[in-house]
Amino acid sequence: MNFHDWYAQMYPERWEGLYSCLLDDPPGFALREGLQQPYYLDEASLQAALALDVHPGHTVLDACAAPGGKTLVLALHLAGSGHLTANDRSSSRRSRLHRVLREHLTDEQRAVIKVTGHDAARWGLYEQNRFDRILLDAPCSSERHVLNNPRELAKWSPKRSRRLAVQQFAMAAAALDAVKPGGRIIYSTCSISMLENDQVMEKLLKRRAGRCRVTVPSGIPWGEPTEYGWMILPDQCGGRGPLYISVITKVPQEESDS
Ligand SMILES: C[S@@+](CC[C@H](N)C(=O)[O-])C[C@H]1O[C@@H](n2cnc3c(N)ncnc32)[C@H](O)[C@@H]1O
Repeated sequence: MNFHDWYAQMYPERWEGLYSCLLDDPPGFALREGLQQPYYLDEASLQAALALDVHPGHTVLDACAAPGGKTLVLALHLAGSGHLTANDRSSSRRSRLHRVLREHLTDEQRAVIKVTGHDAARWGLYEQNRFDRILLDAPCSSERHVLNNPRELAKWSPKRSRRLAVQQFAMAAAALDAVKPGGRIIYSTCSISMLENDQVMEKLLKRRAGRCRVTVPSGIPWGEPTEYGWMILPDQCGGRGPLYISVITKVPQEESDS
């Protein structure tokens, strides 16, 4: 099946409008407050970092951090107190991450950040119950990027989304192991594929029954609820998005035993 047929089937009522919005660039938003110089990002992305509810003193993991727009937001919320591990497996993207952190944050803001290059899907094997907060901004189908890149579009197949969904589930399960009981994970993607969004959360709830709660984030100014999360789609959100956000809370052991 080709790209258009696959997504037209997924969004029968609105694919035409959604498609034409995906061809345009999202409106840029300048994140300025507290930074050395503005950082431009899609305002929808900002919501994923805000939904993590980071406070000074927290131990935070940004599991897939590069190039680092959301890492900047998490660092601003820590305000130089606590720990932030900014991880990304790609070394070239980690170089960009280092540059973004250097150019936008003060030495004091950067002092609490450690950049690492691990596989986020294996994190729970090494560190369990360690983080108060984890942002899992997972690698995804990035349809907006694919549609605007003829070579990527030519390579696209539904298999890609299915393969990514397997990887996303592994990362979500690893994040669940790594977060403290009672701690919060934000699972986000910039994909419009339901396989990579609600269906990943559904699988986590099934496979980790009793160990986590999955809830819809509140207070996001644009978008719509889905079964397990919140979706910001450009056709109805002034060009912002796509962005899917879901909140995962690790159930404390006493509660999961009862
Ligand atoms: C959606 S992007 C992250 C965007 C970033 N959070 C931001 O706001 O700038 C996904 C990232 O995941 C990284 N990645 C892919 N597979 C990974 C893995 N197994 N472990 C850790 N990072 C991975 C990619 O290199 C990519 O930078």
